[in-house]
Amino acid sequence: MPDIAKLQIGENVYEFPLVKGTENEVGIDIKTLRSTTNGVITIDPGFKNTGSCESAITFLDGEKGILRYRGFAIEELAEKASFLEVAYALIFGELPTKEQLEKFHTDIKSKSVVDDDVRKILEAFPKSAHPMGILSSLTSALTAFNPSSVNVDSEEEMYNAIVKILGKFPVLVAWTMRKKSGLPLNYGSKSSGYVENVMKMMFEEPNEEYIINPIIKDALDKLLILHADHEQNCSTSTVRIAGSSHAGLFASLSAGISALWGPLHGGANQAVLEMLEAIKADGGDTKKYMAKAKDKNDPFRLMGFGHRVYKNFDPRATIIKKAADEVLKDLGVEDPILEIARGLEQEALNDPYFVDRKLYPNVDFYSGIIYRAMGIPVEMFTVMFALGRLPGWIAQWKEMRLNKEPIGRPRQIYTGENLRPFQSIEKR
Ligand code: ACO
Repeated sequence: MPDIAKLQIGENVYEFPLVKGTENEVGIDIKTLRSTTNGVITIDPGFKNTGSCESAITFLDGEKGILRYRGFAIEELAEKASFLEVAYALIFGELPTKEQLEKFHTDIKSKSVVDDDVRKILEAFPKSAHPMGILSSLTSALTAFNPSSVNVDSEEEMYNAIVKILGKFPVLVAWTMRKKSGLPLNYGSKSSGYVENVMKMMFEEPNEEYIINPIIKDALDKLLILHADHEQNCSTSTVRIAGSSHAGLFASLSAGISALWGPLHGGANQAVLEMLEAIKADGGDTKKYMAKAKDKNDPFRLMGFGHRVYKNFDPRATIIKKAADEVLKDLGVEDPILEIARGLEQEALNDPYFVDRKLYPNVDFYSGIIYRAMGIPVEMFTVMFALGRLPGWIAQWKEMRLNKEPIGRPRQIYTGENLRPFQSIEKR
């Protein structure tokens, strides 16, 4: 592989160095493009061909269906690690020792109390508010209750901000759900594990002891691990770009939550269930909806199918499909929605339209099914995604700040009017 790329514009030839990653990915370093070519830029809407940074956190190969955090295969992490171990590895680069993990968990628990005034903000939301709107607002509100900005050069300050958000965020998630379901706001228990505590905070009723079902706990642990990072996706890029202005960690996370909300990103798990409900209400005819999905004059898309980067299969979907089967079997769930999901999956896997375009079920096709079986309301699905993605966002924000990345500021090609005279309002 050569180490330079040449670009010819008219008579002029420009040379740019190639950058090679540890997995042999190659990028053309165009940092000097504008200055050497007298203002020429690249255009790449959606940034499908543009690397915004060099990162040592997550490797994914969409063609081969590979996903690794810090070099560890997602399959192995989902099988052998806990969500908190994965969070530690993402944020600090290495899997924790037993002592490091215990200290990390103890520190997180010690910071898990949310200022009681946050309740007042939550109370002011109408019950009809979407949980993602509430979560992004409450995360942003944490900034007001924790005003000192993080000195990123201080390891201690960085660590404190990280354990603080990892402690408080699950409380906000649980409170968001409890607000919707009318349950009193609570705290979990310091003696529970991180994921057990999340379950307790979400589901415990005031007059009943909450017993953890280990199969559901395992499935939730896996779901959170599978969602924990996905390199430079829409919400993560948003966190990095918001943070690149030196906005604080909580404010940058709040921006990421808003980006995650959309149905083409994290909102897809909600959209999957809404689509299945709609198909059921319309008589359960999956063939009709397959035809709609293929009709170019119909805006309908099969939610939960296709992925921006995985073009053969989504490795997370393979893992979570197995967990979904286990949860449904354990809970003895018989749900017509699941039959519709299985029908669509089978038809799509055998349909040339989907096969030719390499459109396979993605992780969100199955995550919604598990969340529904767990009794989590549909509107909360994307909030659960945010809970899983939190360590990835933190790791990426931290890396961006420690690498001293410049403020994110893309360029454009202007296509509007040329200079024209101002007309006074009487003459328009
Ligand atoms: N249903 C029907 N057709 C589809 C679908 C779908 N779900 N997804 C893509 N296609 C078709 C497109 O119409 C296009 O067809 P054409 O080549 O004939 O024009 C072709 O497949 C390629 O589609 P693109 O939109 O170019 O694919 P892209 O990679 O840009 O988009 C995306 C990926 C946004 C995920 C898309 O597949 C989609 O909308 N899927 C449904 C939403 C969804 O599940 N999103 C979750 C993503 S996973 C996550 O965020 C964790």
